[in-house]
Amino acid sequence: MAEQNMLRFAALDHNDIEPCLALSRNSDPHPWRDDTWRRSLRDEFCFGLFDDRCLLAVAAFSLVMDEASLLNIVVGQDLRGKGLGRHLLSEGLNWMQQIGAQRCLLEVRRGNASARALYQRLGFAEDGIRKNYYPLGDGREDAVLMSADLPLTTE
Ligand SMILES: CC(C)(COP(=O)(O)OP(=O)(O)OC[C@H]1O[C@@H](n2cnc3c(N)ncnc32)[C@H](O)[C@@H]1OP(=O)(O)O)[C@@H](O)C(=O)NCCC(=O)NCCS
Repeated sequence: MAEQNMLRFAALDHNDIEPCLALSRNSDPHPWRDDTWRRSLRDEFCFGLFDDRCLLAVAAFSLVMDEASLLNIVVGQDLRGKGLGRHLLSEGLNWMQQIGAQRCLLEVRRGNASARALYQRLGFAEDGIRKNYYPLGDGREDAVLMSADLPLTTE
């Protein structure tokens, strides 16, 4: 893979559906349904990191008034721990701020240690818990609610 500063950050649209589906299916333990990706690429704000050939990571946000929500972020399974998630999320949040977001909210599974660490690293604070929010096998898992004011102060 190219160095991180050789990666290209770009807004995505419906033409990017196939690589988004492939990344999600191959690298997300809880992949979105195909129609959720289609709707997000059409109606929300999706961003990707590319090397010279491939989509390596994807993030999706919504925007309501001045409040962005991070809907999803996925980094390719073999590319984790190299700063791609942090890079993509920072760039995506910069974009969302430039179009009016003053705050970003998100929900994350309580057991998703790497995602929670990523969000904390970027300055998100935990606001509360939504009990038994996500399905997990034959049970349920809590959601941790997090938020950060924009622009981020910790990058
Ligand atoms: C969560 C995810 C996006 C993180 O992406 P990543 O590229 O591996 O993360 P980064 O390498 O950018 O890590 C950024 C920071 O997060 C923290 N972090 C990331 N993974 C970590 C891990 N496994 N253990 C501890 N800390 C971790 C570190 O503090 C790191 O800081 P540093 O850059 O100063 O070392 C990735 O693991 C993923 O795609 N998971 C599957 C999909 C998913 O769960 N998405 C979240 C939905 S809410």
